[in-house]
Amino acid sequence: HGTSRINEQGRLEIGGCDTVELAEKFGTPLYVYDETLIRENCRAFKRAFDRSGLRYQVGYASKAFCTMAMCKLIEEEGLCLDVVSAGELHTSVKAGFPADRIHFHGNNKTPEEIEYALKVGIGEFVVDNFRELELLGGMAKAAGKTVTILLRVSPGVEAHTHEYISTGQEDSKFGFDVMSGQAKEAIQTALMLEGIRLAGLHSHIGSQIFETDGFSVAVSRVADLYEWAGKALGYAFWKLNVGGGFGIRYTEEDVPLALEAYVDAITDAIKVEFAIRGLEYPEVVIEPGRSIVGAAGTTLYTVGSTKNIPGIRKYVSVNGGMTDNPRPALYQSKYEAMLANRALEPAVETVSIAGKCCESGDMLIWDIELPEVRANDILAVSCTGAYNYSMASNYNRIARPAVVFVKDGKADLVVKRETLDDLVQNDLVPERLLSGSE
Ligand code: LLP
Repeated sequence: HGTSRINEQGRLEIGGCDTVELAEKFGTPLYVYDETLIRENCRAFKRAFDRSGLRYQVGYASKAFCTMAMCKLIEEEGLCLDVVSAGELHTSVKAGFPADRIHFHGNNKTPEEIEYALKVGIGEFVVDNFRELELLGGMAKAAGKTVTILLRVSPGVEAHTHEYISTGQEDSKFGFDVMSGQAKEAIQTALMLEGIRLAGLHSHIGSQIFETDGFSVAVSRVADLYEWAGKALGYAFWKLNVGGGFGIRYTEEDVPLALEAYVDAITDAIKVEFAIRGLEYPEVVIEPGRSIVGAAGTTLYTVGSTKNIPGIRKYVSVNGGMTDNPRPALYQSKYEAMLANRALEPAVETVSIAGKCCESGDMLIWDIELPEVRANDILAVSCTGAYNYSMASNYNRIARPAVVFVKDGKADLVVKRETLDDLVQNDLVPERLLSGSE
């Protein structure tokens, strides 16, 4: 996918760059991002909306992968940006991302985070709960500002990988519950607060979703609230955010829709549900993360030791693991991989790829067919662009890898590799321990 191909030397090439050379130049583990593919994904979403004729915004959920270079790229592509913490907000501010195109999410924004967001003048808060509503209203009023908000509602749709189940009372920490009437109460409260301008509602039903039914049900439940607000309160919302969650292909087990198909399903549902209620079409917002960056990322590792247990399993260890990709350990996620330096050699053995952390759960891939794997081979794990770097840790005091963007044969470092000194830079040793007085 994207600009990946096997070059004349039989090596994996991404963005016109030989990955074996990237590994030599930048070291491993290394996150390599195909910039062209990220841009194509952004454009695919916009194309689908253009076809729909609806007013829209495409946001990028930066939790999937947030660095200053990524914020810049998203700005260039004309997307909005979702942030969920002061850290993500600060990254985008430092990158010069236009504040009016930033949306602030999260179920427990702290007063300090709200203050920062008010100070930089972000475009929109997605308010999650009553405490936040009061807090934000009060802080906005005190600052002499009026902030635009959406209220996040949980529409009682639980999206699973291959199905959705409707639950009467959704058990979720996010958003105002629709079924119990909480959402209506929140709407009434928001309309009474000075300092708050209520643009509409937000719903996000889950992540790595392969079907569109969940979105249609959510749109219908939210449309009920738009109708209610009009009839009962005489208030017309003008915006609707349906979240992200569009699935991608990690392995052949995953059968996602084309990006455009998710947008088509959403815009079709909105047209139907709003028309039958006699409501004007709102401006539609989506905020995908994974489907913009997931397939664009590849992690390069160097193979080290192997352990063969005859008749049972061959473990191949790489110089990274759950610290740079916690998803297999956290969600039993599956990945595909290839030997980047011998990409054309036929598979001859089944091996399991282990990370280097001190726990047995640190396995990246169980049972994968590869050519005979040797020390110093470069293993490329694909589809690591979302929730890998952003979820990386320093467990075992392992330094986090570097990140490069590749495009048209050029490779640019966008995050430096952490050094051993970076790992201790915030450590302090109390005087009494230094002097040995205890
Ligand atoms: N909007 C909201 C409000 C969200 O909570 C999320 C993801 C998104 C948008 C973006 O969803 P996406 O398009 O990326 O599926 N760490 C997990 C995924 C957690 C998703 C959390 N919320 C993983 O690695 O699979």
